[in-house]
Amino acid sequence: MSHKIQTLSGYIHEYQKSVLQPEVFWGRVAESFHWEKRWDKTLEWNFEEPDIKWFVNGKLNITENILDRHLFIMGDKPAIIWEPNEPGDEAVTLTYRELYEKTNEFANAMKAKGVGKGDRVIIYMPMVPEAAIAMLACARIGAVHSIVFAGFSSSSLADRVNDCEAKMILTSDGNFRGAKKIPVKAVVDEALESCTTVESVIVFQRTGTEVTMKEGRDYWWHDVIKGQSKECKAEIMDSEDMLFILYTSGSTGKPKGVVHTVGGYMVYTYYSFVNVFQYSIGDVYWCTADVGWITGHSYIVYGPLLAGATTLMFEGVPTYPDAGRFWQIVEKHKVNQFYTAPTAIRALQAYGLEPIEPYDLSSLKVIGSVGEPINEEAWHWYHDHIGKGNCPLVDTWWQTETGGIMVSALAGVIPNKPAHASLPLPGIQPIIVDAEGNELKGNNVEGNLCIKFPWPSMLRTTYGDHERCRQTYFSTYKGLYFTGDGAKRDHDGYLRILGRVDDVINVSGHRMGTAEVENAINEHPKVIESAVVGYPHDVKGQGIYAFAICDMEGRSEENLIAEIKKTVANIIGPIARPDKVQIVPGLPKTRSGKIMRRILRKVAAGEADQLGDTSTLLNPEVVESIIESAKNAK
Ligand code: WTA
Repeated sequence: MSHKIQTLSGYIHEYQKSVLQPEVFWGRVAESFHWEKRWDKTLEWNFEEPDIKWFVNGKLNITENILDRHLFIMGDKPAIIWEPNEPGDEAVTLTYRELYEKTNEFANAMKAKGVGKGDRVIIYMPMVPEAAIAMLACARIGAVHSIVFAGFSSSSLADRVNDCEAKMILTSDGNFRGAKKIPVKAVVDEALESCTTVESVIVFQRTGTEVTMKEGRDYWWHDVIKGQSKECKAEIMDSEDMLFILYTSGSTGKPKGVVHTVGGYMVYTYYSFVNVFQYSIGDVYWCTADVGWITGHSYIVYGPLLAGATTLMFEGVPTYPDAGRFWQIVEKHKVNQFYTAPTAIRALQAYGLEPIEPYDLSSLKVIGSVGEPINEEAWHWYHDHIGKGNCPLVDTWWQTETGGIMVSALAGVIPNKPAHASLPLPGIQPIIVDAEGNELKGNNVEGNLCIKFPWPSMLRTTYGDHERCRQTYFSTYKGLYFTGDGAKRDHDGYLRILGRVDDVINVSGHRMGTAEVENAINEHPKVIESAVVGYPHDVKGQGIYAFAICDMEGRSEENLIAEIKKTVANIIGPIARPDKVQIVPGLPKTRSGKIMRRILRKVAAGEADQLGDTSTLLNPEVVESIIESAKNAK
């Protein structure tokens, strides 16, 4: 099956078709999959509720389209190549047949522990092939997986377990990350002290770290698969049954569970994967994300495997044992498509060209970027030194909620332009609106980015709280999906994403809600009130800057700052640790009592000379002392 667009005129033609007759367009893509029963209607939707259904009454199992379908001619072809943390350790290749067998075996093991269709299963695992097997095994039996990035703390994990009332957790004894060994099972044990729904925990042995196994609850992965059949009948799912929940941060304090469903997600991740990366059978494709984020879901596991691709999974980090590790892997496995994040590029850029020089990167055909706006300097470095000036660089804009890439060049088909995500994929109808929601037509316009028509992999709800989904995405502008991002359409009609316009900070490509970090800071007994903003950071894109009003009795400022940072790392996880904390006597408030973040953002960015009008504040006098104490921020 091929839906690969190969020319610019082909793109324009497909795009027009997709807008004029979306149902016909997506119906054709969907027809190339195996369905147990064909859908009755391609699309039913309204953005008011919202209520979105693709491939209505279609029945299928996504794993049949990943595994069974590829057995016949692709059975011996590599599905997953796994590169371990230590360069000296042997890489592992799983063929489609092996992946099929291991998925079924583990699916049977999960069933034997009482997990079935609709049950929620939390995956809290390192980057090992078993993480992908775990996802596919859930999908095989109709269980709903929810992956929690293994860097999140026990309380973040517990919140997610409780929110989705998970029945099972899949984890490991420990994780290797560079020179570190992280005791993952211990985090799960701690989380489970405040969870009641989990009946069993399956532990994959990776690091040999000593763990406590609770009788009747905890089992080793290698024990539960013993004697299980390598065949497992795929559960027949409705197109709109849940495939997974993935928690993501928003502008309120509590992460929300974004829900994706089977049929539409399958069709769109496949379609966007082959088109954006221009994947051809036999290519080795590598996305450096973690499976704990949406990029790992859609473009390490589902999209590539649906396309019969060879997808590389890497356990480690870019700078271990040295800053040449990525390039060594590209050479070793002859990687053809390489997809990473601007923060990784900037971090490696800081090491100069020396770490790249020993390696042959000539296998690369396409390079990609995701997660945050890529600045021009990083873009050129990546394009010139990694792509050697002759690989198309796809800057892919999308979100956990969109399920798949929405705006991007198609490699080599749509011309590149530095720092511009460029054009929408077929089927995607983005518009730019002003504050009142009026569409800004034509070129050279800037405003808020919305999508006006449904696409197959869009979120359907936020788990257990549909109203929140409506409020967050569908109520700001009537009849539109609001992305939370600002965007500009330039004189050529290319889109440039300008970053979040809500209270979300993008730290190293990871979304952090300011309210979530504030809630964590406020847990410190000495903190009276806090406010968190993002500020420009050389490597992370944005850093987290916290202002806190504290009771200073019995504490030095320095100790308190260190304690506040530690509190956040403990409550949410190390990724949310503030880069800077400033103790302040007060926070600038409007007369209605709202914190004026605009002022705090300027102070954090070192632009206190550009504060603008502060006369409408309730407490303008506090601004001077905030500016004054900014030098003590650490
Ligand atoms: C940002 C990651 C600019 C954006 C797939 C979005 C980007 C948020 C890009 C979603 C890009 C992602 N250019 N900004 N190419 N890609 N973003 O849910 O602000 O982790 O709203 O999904 O990342 O982050 P999420």
